[in-house]
Amino acid sequence: MRLMTAAAAIVFAGLAILGFLAVGYALAGFAIVTAAAFLATRGGEAVGRRARPTSVSERADDPLQVVIANLPDPVIALDGDGRVLALNERARSLAPALRQGEPVSLALRMPELIEAIGRAYARGEEQRIEYSDHVPLDRWFETVVVPVSRRANLNKPDLILMIFHDLTPLRRVEEMRADFIANASHELRTPLAALSGFIETLQGSARDDAKARERFLAIMQEQARRMARLIDDLLSLSRIELNAHRRPDTPVDLVPIVRQVVDGLETLARDRGVTVHVAAEGALTVLGDRDELVRVFENLIENALKYGAAGKRVDITVTQAVSTEGETEALIGVRDYGPGIAPEHLPRLTERFYRVDVSESRAQGGTGLGLALVKHILNRHRGRLSIESVLGEGATFTVHLPAPGTPP
Ligand SMILES: Nc1ncnc2c1ncn2[C@@H]1O[C@H](COP(=O)(O)OP(=O)(O)O)[C@@H](O)[C@H]1O
Ligand SMILES: [Mg+2]
Repeated sequence: MRLMTAAAAIVFAGLAILGFLAVGYALAGFAIVTAAAFLATRGGEAVGRRARPTSVSERADDPLQVVIANLPDPVIALDGDGRVLALNERARSLAPALRQGEPVSLALRMPELIEAIGRAYARGEEQRIEYSDHVPLDRWFETVVVPVSRRANLNKPDLILMIFHDLTPLRRVEEMRADFIANASHELRTPLAALSGFIETLQGSARDDAKARERFLAIMQEQARRMARLIDDLLSLSRIELNAHRRPDTPVDLVPIVRQVVDGLETLARDRGVTVHVAAEGALTVLGDRDELVRVFENLIENALKYGAAGKRVDITVTQAVSTEGETEALIGVRDYGPGIAPEHLPRLTERFYRVDVSESRAQGGTGLGLALVKHILNRHRGRLSIESVLGEGATFTVHLPAPGTPP
């Protein structure tokens, strides 16, 4: 209103100076415009309070609306009567029934939220509540309800801000961590129970049985080794996770690494009656951590030798190609001709402790952490693992690593 009055003053003063209007007429005109502006403002306020509390927010330049629209979390502003004054797109997608000007209680189904708004309004204090929604998906939220008095002399808040924090990703991480600890403890407890059992037997009934003692000690040794492998893998996983954000920056040639791993697994290959073929030419350099890459190829080739032994052959290829994004990639393929993997298992294979057949994995000395390690190491190298398999025809595990500066 002040702006309008000032503008009118300038216009009428200007007209008077230019001689278009007598000074008296100019003053009268100015008075009329000022009064009209004053009445319009008062009228707007009066009408607004009774029937249309949203008139303020419907203006595109309304600061409240502009601020709320640009906040990264879902936010709803209510007037003192619990009607929606303003909301952003994120709040709209959370509760599509919300309408400006309508009571918020019509659109929000959570009774605990409505109660929190009531308390915030009555006590003039911030309220925080957590709640979960299960339709269409499980989601968790924390909502902060902040009462605001926009003028100093109000004894009741005339604005309520509701700010929603999506706790779902946090909850998922918490669940995963709890699952992981439960799984790891279970995996450790099994060999531990076997060890305790054999110790008791050796102390009791088998005390003087030299033959049984030999046999039991061999089993105990294997169980102890299994626990050691498990702890090794768990420690490696946590170490790699700690370094996940630091991308390795040492140039390493993949070809000798792959050959070295194959040489190291020669005994295993011979035991399983599998021939390993390596197709690699020249050098293929990536930025990497040598020890971690050794671990990747060890895991993949060992899996192929163990689970794909029936195919009698494992083919390893080291090549480079241009990805669909136009970047040069080093590709290391490990192909076996064993039983293959059913498609429903493929997406879960890199999860910790996920195994197609737990007893088969245990019999092979597996921990269920090999492919999880592979995935984490490749993530750190900004690479990835792809798996293809046809049941009965074997499986191909392909490592993709960015290979900068070496065009094919
Ligand atoms: N080449 C393969 N052929 C068939 N199944 C495989 C192959 N590689 C991995 N798998 C399956 O994926 C599971 C997970 O592998 P991994 O994470 O290395 O754990 P582990 O070998 O310790 O069991 C294995 O238990 C096995 O069921
Ligand atoms: Mg493995």
